Amino acid sequence: MNPKIKKWLPFIILILIIIVTAFYLFLNTLKSTYVPTTDNPGQIYREACSGCHGVQGEGKGLFPNLADQTIEAAHVREIIKSGALMMPSFEQLQGDTLNKVAEYVSQHKFSE
Ligand code: HEC
Repeated sequence: MNPKIKKWLPFIILILIIIVTAFYLFLNTLKSTYVPTTDNPGQIYREACSGCHGVQGEGKGLFPNLADQTIEAAHVREIIKSGALMMPSFEQLQGDTLNKVAEYVSQHKFSE
């Protein structure tokens, strides 16, 4: 290996680690700016979630399929509230509305 590269390698690795960590922390702080105008869970799902998870929960590319797996409503609520690595959090969905959306996803009511 070129001795110059060898000398700088630890720094290059350190900088890469910092960039990856910063990106990870940045992704974790994403918050959705979606403003719900209804408490109809189907409409909220189509407006706020289907862009990533598909209208029928079929998923898109890196965004997971929600229809082919069983997800407890409580788990859906947690993810909506806190977000996940590449998913923004939706703190604006609360109370009864949050429960309805979580139930909608958990019970696969995608055609309603
Ligand atoms: C920007 C795209 C995006 C949007 C919008 C989005 N999600 Fe997600 N969602 C993701 C990604 C990506 C994951 C996988 C978790 C991760 O990033 O590690 C995920 C994971 C999930 C999971 C867990 C699935 C599993 O396999 O464990 C649920 C449930 C979920 N999302 C529900 C919702 C709901 C409900 C909404 C709307 C309120 C929503 N998502 C909006 C991208 C999105």
